[in-house]
Amino acid sequence: MTPRGDLEGKVAVVTGGAKGIGAASAEAVVAEGGRVVIADLDDEQGRALAARLGDAARYRRTDVGEREDMRALIDFAVEEFGSLDIMFNNAGITGAFHNRFLDDPLDDLERVLRINLASVMWGTQYAARYMATRGGGAIVNTTSIAALDPGFAIPAYRASKAGIINFTRSVAVDLGEYAIRVNAIAPGGIPTSMNSFVEPGLPPDMFADLQAQLEPIRLIKQPLKRPGKPADIANMLVFLASDRASHITGQVMVVDGGVTAGSTLNQTELLREARARFLNERGD
Ligand SMILES: NC(=O)c1ccc[n+]([C@@H]2O[C@H](COP(=O)([O-])OP(=O)(O)OC[C@H]3O[C@@H](n4cnc5c(N)ncnc54)[C@H](O)[C@@H]3O)[C@@H](O)[C@H]2O)c1
Repeated sequence: MTPRGDLEGKVAVVTGGAKGIGAASAEAVVAEGGRVVIADLDDEQGRALAARLGDAARYRRTDVGEREDMRALIDFAVEEFGSLDIMFNNAGITGAFHNRFLDDPLDDLERVLRINLASVMWGTQYAARYMATRGGGAIVNTTSIAALDPGFAIPAYRASKAGIINFTRSVAVDLGEYAIRVNAIAPGGIPTSMNSFVEPGLPPDMFADLQAQLEPIRLIKQPLKRPGKPADIANMLVFLASDRASHITGQVMVVDGGVTAGSTLNQTELLREARARFLNERGD
């Protein structure tokens, strides 16, 4: 997409900005004329990305699961760039995978809820307290279609992402009078380090091969047959953060290649075939 300067002069914080969706979003903010603070725990990748983006970017080591880190992050953005217009609460973890609920020890329940949900609440509150004093802003939270499309595995993740949706809508109602818009993005399956079903992360040289193996399985449920990309989510972030979305708040924007639009299983076809077989066998 050719940048249009949609975020000219705006200052953004992107959590989980060192990799994946967050990194693509930090790049998009700068490409659209904004400045960005990349917040993450991956110092190496975070610093490298900030260096590549130049003077419009800073890296700030932040554990989003620590309230004090989130407060300091907002202060840092304002000190460095003199403002804060966009807060992208994006960092998240899946927790360990256990395909069936009865086998899941739920060992990482508190950690997942803190990093995925409490962080969004702290980030929203600290950002909004600042934004309220200066005429508004845009807050965007990353949820997931895992919150909309119930299914197997990662129950703590699903619950945390569902919590983000209700929180986003509720706080949008509360913060509207300060011209603070709060929306969420629900990505579908995007091949990132998180979506490799491996914890801790896979060696980088194996990553592309694994994603190639996973791709056809991911696409079974997806009407649009192009795999999702981090940039697809970054495009939605740019839109929601820009003045083009100035009358949109409390919404969940789904970017999933159509996965939640409906099942790709053509049940009618299967039923018609079964009916024809049945009638044929009966000789009618
Ligand atoms: N990839 C997908 O298929 C998908 C689908 C739906 C939703 N999401 C959501 O998108 C968001 C970004 O995920 P991604 O796919 O880009 O994954 P990713 O693993 O590529 O990026 C996540 C980033 O968050 C950082 N992070 C993790 N814990 C942190 C912490 N405590 N403090 C600060 N940073 C931390 C990681 O270091 C990493 O850089 C997550 O909230 C995820 O739940 C992803």
